[in-house]
Amino acid sequence: MKIAAIGDIHVRETSRGQYTELFKEISEKTDILVLCGDLTDLGLPQEAYVLAEELKACTIPVISVLGNHDYQSEQADGVKKILQDANCTVLDQEPFIYQNIGFAGIKGFIGGFDQYALNAFGEPAIKQIVLERDHEAYALENQLKQLLAQQIKQRVVLMHYSPIRETVAQEPADIMPFLGSTRYAQVIDQFGADVVFHGHANMGPHSGKTIGGTPVFNVALPLLISLKPQLQYKEFIL
Ligand SMILES: [Fe+2]
Ligand SMILES: [Fe+2]
Repeated sequence: MKIAAIGDIHVRETSRGQYTELFKEISEKTDILVLCGDLTDLGLPQEAYVLAEELKACTIPVISVLGNHDYQSEQADGVKKILQDANCTVLDQEPFIYQNIGFAGIKGFIGGFDQYALNAFGEPAIKQIVLERDHEAYALENQLKQLLAQQIKQRVVLMHYSPIRETVAQEPADIMPFLGSTRYAQVIDQFGADVVFHGHANMGPHSGKTIGGTPVFNVALPLLISLKPQLQYKEFIL
């Protein structure tokens, strides 16, 4: 199966027509499109409607997760519904199976990496951040467990935030804790996946691995465009 993956398309009300040709090309060349969050720029229903219109150019299944930008206007449920009505599967609790390949997807959250990860210590607000991070980790764990229970041997994980430091390492060190969390890599390594796609960090690098050896690709569109040769989507064959 040929998978096309892109993150951070940040569709605005002015983006009408901007993705039609790309989605047509992806439909001709690949079997499934994976969108890794920040689908809209400000999380507005009007932006989601523009994306829904663009997605009509897609003749292959489209699966996605939301990103932090999709929450900005506190209308994430509305954004999700508009995309679902446009035949775009939005993953958060239930996995998706296509041609015997399983797709588990979460937004993820902040928290930092490795020995510098945030702990549930101190003020209630800090503990709340760690709880939110873990809530997303349990959602990923549940989906991977469901796929294992159904004996789905090939599993793809899509996220918005990064599960490893390596694919966001070119971002400024000061924002590192806000780019993702190692907690998700632990889940991925415990339950197993063939590949992980994420977005959120525009600097990259483009590829890395979890400690357990699962390939991880940062597919944020600005990063893909900055690569030489330039890409508009990541193609991965499974
Ligand atoms: Fe983004
Ligand atoms: Fe983001």
